Amino acid sequence: MAILKIKTYPDSVLRGHARPVDEVNRDIRKLIDNMAETMYDAPGIGLAANQVGELKRVIVIDIQKEGESTGLIALINPEILELRGNISTEEGCLSVPDFYSEVKRAEEVRVRALNPDGKEIEIDAKGLLAVVLQHEIDHLNGKLFIDRLNPIKREIFKRNWKKKKKKG
Ligand code: NI
Repeated sequence: MAILKIKTYPDSVLRGHARPVDEVNRDIRKLIDNMAETMYDAPGIGLAANQVGELKRVIVIDIQKEGESTGLIALINPEILELRGNISTEEGCLSVPDFYSEVKRAEEVRVRALNPDGKEIEIDAKGLLAVVLQHEIDHLNGKLFIDRLNPIKREIFKRNWKKKKKKG
């Protein structure tokens, strides 16, 4: 296993549309292992393949927060089947360091995907897991949580980012 380099905003790979995985083979399982190790090392609660420079539809999630623990969830070609309700939570992203902001999303989500054995599974998620699933699937479509902020909050992000860039 290896810890991979996490790409950060404004790297163009974060804007790429990840391609579906045709076959869940050894290479994909190796990518999943490395992504999981990278996520735990960061530490983070989710990571999409775009963030390590691979435009493949693969995400890993492990929520260990406030007593909620999912264990490692690795999904290939995840698809959102259903969205329900509304929730607003503070989000951050390993690719957008040092910035956190409230984001509105669906409160419940049903996702279909392949697991690392290549089997089709469906996940019904609520609350934090639902939010992280939506956040990671956004990554696969070249979307970042900062794209979902209202104009005022996005302006705050841009100002912070410019200040940080100047400081080097
Ligand atoms: Ni992210």
